[in-house]
Amino acid sequence: MRKSFLLILLAVSLTFRGMADEGMWIPMLIGKNIAEMQRMGFKLTAEDIYSVNKASLKDAIVHFGGGCTGELISAEGLLITNHHCGYPEIQSHSTVENNLLANGFWASSKAEELPNPGLKVRFLVRMDDVTNLVLKNIAPSMTEQERAKSIQQVADSLIAKAEKEGIGYEASIRPFYYGNQYYMFVYQVFEDVRLVGTPPESIGKFGGDTDNWVWPRHTGDFSLFRIYADKNNNPAPYSPSNVPYKPKKFFKISMKGVNEGDFTLVYGFPGRTQQFITSHAVRLLIDQSNPHKINLRDIRLSIFNKFTESNDTIAIKYAAKHARVANAWKKWIGETMGLRRLDAVSKKQEQESMFAAWAATNPELKERYGWLLPTFDRLYAELAPLSLVVDYRNEAVYGVEMLSFASRFERLLSMALDPGVDKGKLAEQRNKLVEYVRDFFKDFELSVDREVFAAMMQAYYERIPQQLQPEFLGKFIQQSGNWRELAKQIYSQTAFADSVRVLTLLNDIDSTNAREFLNDPIFSIYFEFEDLYRKNVQKRYFEITDSLDILYRTYVEGLMRMQPDKRFFPDANSTLRIAYGKVGGFAPRDGVVYDYYTTIDGIYEKSQQRDVPDYVPPKRLIELYQTKDFGPYAVNGTVPVAFIASNHTTGGNSGSPVLDAEGNLIGVNFDRCWESTMSDVMFDPNYCRNISLDIRYALFVIDKYAGAKNLINEMVILQ
Ligand code: ARG
Ligand code: ASP
Repeated sequence: MRKSFLLILLAVSLTFRGMADEGMWIPMLIGKNIAEMQRMGFKLTAEDIYSVNKASLKDAIVHFGGGCTGELISAEGLLITNHHCGYPEIQSHSTVENNLLANGFWASSKAEELPNPGLKVRFLVRMDDVTNLVLKNIAPSMTEQERAKSIQQVADSLIAKAEKEGIGYEASIRPFYYGNQYYMFVYQVFEDVRLVGTPPESIGKFGGDTDNWVWPRHTGDFSLFRIYADKNNNPAPYSPSNVPYKPKKFFKISMKGVNEGDFTLVYGFPGRTQQFITSHAVRLLIDQSNPHKINLRDIRLSIFNKFTESNDTIAIKYAAKHARVANAWKKWIGETMGLRRLDAVSKKQEQESMFAAWAATNPELKERYGWLLPTFDRLYAELAPLSLVVDYRNEAVYGVEMLSFASRFERLLSMALDPGVDKGKLAEQRNKLVEYVRDFFKDFELSVDREVFAAMMQAYYERIPQQLQPEFLGKFIQQSGNWRELAKQIYSQTAFADSVRVLTLLNDIDSTNAREFLNDPIFSIYFEFEDLYRKNVQKRYFEITDSLDILYRTYVEGLMRMQPDKRFFPDANSTLRIAYGKVGGFAPRDGVVYDYYTTIDGIYEKSQQRDVPDYVPPKRLIELYQTKDFGPYAVNGTVPVAFIASNHTTGGNSGSPVLDAEGNLIGVNFDRCWESTMSDVMFDPNYCRNISLDIRYALFVIDKYAGAKNLINEMVILQ
């Protein structure tokens, strides 16, 4: 009795945490949150977080590549991000003889650091609220196109002006709250970014897809890069004469670690959330879109697995593809379960009833907002069948590698068939494609894709209404009724599956060769799908989604008027944001309570399940573990590896600095728990936890595992 009472007490105390943790806040406006943050334990000021007058925390943070975050950890431009964020670069430096993915890499001097053409990092110089400027010419009578054009004109001139202010400056203007507000972001972009260090995958990706999105987690998900600048500390293209960049600010590293209840701040570039969507959209997501996409990926992944389990060469070729396909697949499963458990549709409906009641309270509100919900009803009803086709196009049609490959040729082919084409432009387009073709075949396996083709065509045929199906599908199935046969025939006839033939045809691309591509069975199939989509789906689909955007703009404006005292955060849009929360475990389901941290003991424990390939740590790590050779990183006879906290994060936050109350680095964000993934739509402090690498595990790996003292010596480590 007593024991179960205590358990209930524990569950209740875990359940009734503050709601303060939700939100991804705009740095420039963080003053509005700072009192609350300080109440939660934060010791710094709003000026310390974001300032245009002095160095502030933002100056130590970069948007890394297209979709991740990284942070500076030394006066010499050293940067830490996730292993999965540096993965394309690490992979590109890997060969069979010198496999950085398998063995790791540690530059023992700056001369050994590896350049990465195409990789860029962006610092936020400043952001400005440009709402009034951008909307100054907008009249209520304007059409949506006129509105967009007017905004674009003002934006273009503001951007052009800002980009002249400094070397390597790039600016952009982004809508917030569906276009109720606009902010300009001025970045300084560096393009000489070199790989400095990475653990082997067996540390950096430990747990692989098995543990992806899951707690408890033991992934050493980090890699190290260095930003280089010219001798004036300005951005410059790669040059051997460039020197390490001297940042305005870098993070000191704290060895103090985390305790339950500690304040944490995550400062990075979250990509996309949809917290304002209506009950109709949530229903569409969890009852239609996610289940279909999950199902199509289930099929694709089981085909991948069948081949990779029995063939090592295919396993290597499909490693990154598998990880990409499985990542979203697993997230959608978690998201769907989470939203169902939260009863998100009912919660949204309650909010909508409140809104409708509020909008009926006076004629002005009624006129401005009264029509919204019935219109949402109507538009989403019309959207649902179109959205299904869009999902099948993305997942079933483009899920076939040959078909997405063929789609890349469309532009070139239409250029080649145009008698008045500019020969230079044609050659330029061709050269781009040649490069893509070479890359494509490196990781392509015909037998896998042929089976994916058969399965995806069947799924499309069985689920999509006949009038939205290319004719060949029905015809074929009437004739033979065997999808594998169809796949076999097509894959044996197509030139697209043969790199030599593709490259030869591309080599002197003219109208004759272009016609050969056009008549190819793969291209014809691709084009039949596309033609049907363009004629019968695309236009209406985008009309509806554009209308929905306008509706949401007004709806969100209304929600803000209805609750004038509530702080609303704008949906993530790949701009710099702050999320704050507290370290802590949670109770994911009946009878289970998650602790807030993991240790190296868990790595050993997992490695004992000998049949799981994702759980094979390097021998050297096990030796260090068995001899307890932990150096200064030992805590109670072990090494902490990861921890969870209630910061509201999403894709793009990977690699974000996790800071303590004093603004020192205690971790690197890399994932969310499975029970948390609905936070892109609805955040719940009882279930939403971000997963961070404990910085002490990164130091342990750099120092004790790799012996890279040169890197440790660059950092400022606080005991
Ligand atoms: N789930 C994480 C994020 O969305 C990490 C993905 C990389 N790891 C993997 N095993 N696929 O991006
Ligand atoms: N793993 C994600 C990323 O790569 C982070 C998340 O979705 O929580 O950004």
